[in-house]
Amino acid sequence: MQPVTFDAASRTWLLRTPATSYVLRLDAGDVPVHLHWGPVLTLEQAAALPSGTRQSSSFDGTGALDELVTEAGARFHTPSLQIVFPGGVRGVDWRFKAHESDGGHLVLRFGDAHEPLELELHYRVHDDSDVIERWTRLVCRVPVTLLRCDSAAWSVPMRDGYRLSHVTGDWSAEHGLHRTELAAGETTLTSRRGLTSHAANPWVMLDAGDATERHGEVWSGALAWSGSWRITVTRDAAGRAGWTGGFGHEGLSWRLEPGEEWVTPVFAGLYSAHGHGGASRTWHDYVSRHVLPEPGELRPVVYNAWEAVGFDVGEANQKELAALAAQVGAELFVMDDAWFGGRTSDRAGLGDWWPNPDRFPGGLAPLIDEVHRHGMRFGLWVEPEMVNPDSDLYRAHPDWVLHQPGRPRTELRHQLVLDLSRPEVAYWAQEWLNRLVSEHEIDFLKWDCNRAFTEVADDRAWIGHVRAVYAILDRLRADHPHLRVEACAGGGGRTDLGILARTDQVWTSDNTDAFDRIAIQHGFSQLYPARVMAAWVTDSPNPLTRRRTPLAFRFHVAMAGALGIGGDLLRWSPEELDQAAALVAVHKDIRPVVQLGVQHRLPYGMQYAHEDRVVVLAWRGPVRHGTPEPRLRLEGLDPLGRYTDEDSGVLHHGAVLMSAGLPLDLPADDYASALVRLRREA
Ligand code: DGJ
Repeated sequence: MQPVTFDAASRTWLLRTPATSYVLRLDAGDVPVHLHWGPVLTLEQAAALPSGTRQSSSFDGTGALDELVTEAGARFHTPSLQIVFPGGVRGVDWRFKAHESDGGHLVLRFGDAHEPLELELHYRVHDDSDVIERWTRLVCRVPVTLLRCDSAAWSVPMRDGYRLSHVTGDWSAEHGLHRTELAAGETTLTSRRGLTSHAANPWVMLDAGDATERHGEVWSGALAWSGSWRITVTRDAAGRAGWTGGFGHEGLSWRLEPGEEWVTPVFAGLYSAHGHGGASRTWHDYVSRHVLPEPGELRPVVYNAWEAVGFDVGEANQKELAALAAQVGAELFVMDDAWFGGRTSDRAGLGDWWPNPDRFPGGLAPLIDEVHRHGMRFGLWVEPEMVNPDSDLYRAHPDWVLHQPGRPRTELRHQLVLDLSRPEVAYWAQEWLNRLVSEHEIDFLKWDCNRAFTEVADDRAWIGHVRAVYAILDRLRADHPHLRVEACAGGGGRTDLGILARTDQVWTSDNTDAFDRIAIQHGFSQLYPARVMAAWVTDSPNPLTRRRTPLAFRFHVAMAGALGIGGDLLRWSPEELDQAAALVAVHKDIRPVVQLGVQHRLPYGMQYAHEDRVVVLAWRGPVRHGTPEPRLRLEGLDPLGRYTDEDSGVLHHGAVLMSAGLPLDLPADDYASALVRLRREA
């Protein structure tokens, strides 16, 4: 299979992935227009595709679906590129220059008929994934202002109707899945917070309203960016639909100096013919193969005492908890907030990154040594982008924060944002992080970020700050190859393909209530794989929701990701500690199946398959009497295969598990759960 082919006569490019094709063409005016995104086509078939839809009247646009919508001529769809040249001229009068392809990477180079602009559209396909990566690069020899510069515009084929899937949420309620008819007009999904945000996540899925979890065509896209972003989904009167998206929110502008290069983040897209479940599985596989730094590693069982002790951190309580964490089988002990500077509450100390001398009189070494003696790795919480005004750092450098001269500096959680787009601030962060990791035996950092951005004086900082975070993380990992990192922003406020390219997992949510987590994890799983979804078992009643749930239920929900324990183990009974140790052992047994396997969402649970093993986690909240229990019909098994329940020894047939389902007979109790391990007979 050739990943990129070109038909010179029709000026048509065909991109091939294992199961899909993507076709674009230059029209008579050199504009790159979209023709096809769906099942596989040959180049001959691609060249025969009709060009665009008809212009219906003098009030309509060109009817074409541009690969990057600019403001030139009769183009009235949401612009992807809004560029203002000297004198106020806008839009691109495309002039095709050249195309190059290197393996699966296709670059189309354009100029403008009137201005010294270089504009490149980049496409990259892989031979092991149906995900297509796209981004844009531009350089101009005269000064220009960018009002919007999206990574890509994606168009889907005409259908009678469209349904939009996306997530919305809030702190402690991330990844709430919405599946609604796509409104006529424009629907904007966005973050204006400088972070990916809890309120929305930069991915989108469209289907014709007929896709199910198992069947049907789904077109989706995900932006690899961890700051403000915007995706505008359009459905016009003619029935066309698609989206354009990129970094930055509306209202920002960036002035580029002559010769300055502007490169957007990747906006990846996927066509799947196998329903929402199929789309999710392909995204999971893509994240593993092409995004994560260490995809093949199993995630260690974490213990983190944040919920247990909050800001009351000290050497003694951390050591006591470390002993119990080791007893239940934790592999990585993470000390959270409040180990440094004058940080005894959220009011002070952020920015002063040395061990608090009252709490750790001998420094961190005695605790780290103790953790290592227990056979666990050691991790530490940091929040490098933030500062409390009550800190030595702020007193020394009050100008280092995002602020607008003469305006109040909005404090959120009593903290301000350090402007990492400034080289001296980024240098400071890089330097102390490097020193911290070099001078201590630190294996893991939890990189937190606990507020949205305000009072950004220079629009470039919205982009520059995120690039600096990426550069610091990349450098830190290169200098300390053993280091693993968890991304966190008050829970799941920074979950995206951009941060996942330089971290190993994300803290999914500050809400650790196992029942609430089912919905959060369901939304999370639409795009992101189990191995990056950090999930803790915490206390009952849950500190946030006060809900009481059984320990097994809490474990079974958290085992669906990268298991951690966050409860106050000092208050757990000996029986609970024993039960926890047994469940951690089970988790370690099924971990390769969950974290490296293929995931299928079931009506009230998850199925994972890896090599000859299948694991089913099933959980159920409170149910009204008489509610029929949905069958757990398994998926993707060998119909002729025989599967033995590893715990009971019962033999199942693949065809029966997929048609009649797996009999579970959960007890009638609220918050019942089950874990089933099946092994396929040779
Ligand atoms: C927010 C995180 O999500 C929590 O897990 C914890 O690390 C706190 N910050 C610490 O301040």
